[in-house]
Amino acid sequence: MAVSIKSAREIALMRESGRILAEVHARLGEEIKPGISTYDINKIGEEIIRSYGCTPSFLNYNGYPASICVSVNDEVVHGIPNRKHIIYEGDIVSLDAGVIYKGYHSDAARTHGVGRISREAQDLIDATKQSFYEGIKMARAGNHLHDISKAIDSYISRFGYGIVRDLVGHGVGAKLHEDPQIPNFAQRRRGIRLRAGMTLAIEPMINLGGWEVEWLEDDWTVVTADGSWSAHYENTILITDGEPEILTLL
Ligand code: MF3
Ligand code: CO
Repeated sequence: MAVSIKSAREIALMRESGRILAEVHARLGEEIKPGISTYDINKIGEEIIRSYGCTPSFLNYNGYPASICVSVNDEVVHGIPNRKHIIYEGDIVSLDAGVIYKGYHSDAARTHGVGRISREAQDLIDATKQSFYEGIKMARAGNHLHDISKAIDSYISRFGYGIVRDLVGHGVGAKLHEDPQIPNFAQRRRGIRLRAGMTLAIEPMINLGGWEVEWLEDDWTVVTADGSWSAHYENTILITDGEPEILTLL
């Protein structure tokens, strides 16, 4: 349960890893159009990652078979790309990607609307993204880890959305998943004290309906139990002595 504090050298590598991942997301986001398959989204994403000389973090991670997690509508996270899964106007598509640059991982996710989407779906996407920003307002040295969790929870709860509980954010760096775990819902205890040099992946997963999720038979795809749609927003951040730095934005 030791939370790593990155050295100046490691922080420089994490910054570069994050910047590349931000570019991967920007470029891949432009490919999301009606008629594309989730298989092709993954294929293009992997090519973009490799074009920067990076390795996809997720490929073969615990047996996950692709480079980009593509999760559509009621799929929350870890959707497996499939030739037969075509996306249509009105869908919402969550793309989760990670890159390894010189041994350092960054991790980020975005949910895209395909063409015109419902007001309800757009509101969910917007609130999920904003909940990340509410969370990182608390991501400062000297604060406690669960101040982030509480801020996300109190922002989301006013909408009546379900906050996924079975999956959480995490430390990130030399490994994709490092300590600590970062829940997106309020905790009884305040958690560890945040320190400059921690790099964290903060990733609210928010459902239009209840918080409960299930796993499909493929043992990866997480879906909402009630079939309601779900959104995901994630960035890798650096705790500093001042404002947190978001490493996976351009
Ligand atoms: N961003 C995802 C997470 O932190 C990483 C997906 S792991 C994979 O859970 F195995 F699905 F690739
Ligand atoms: Co993550």
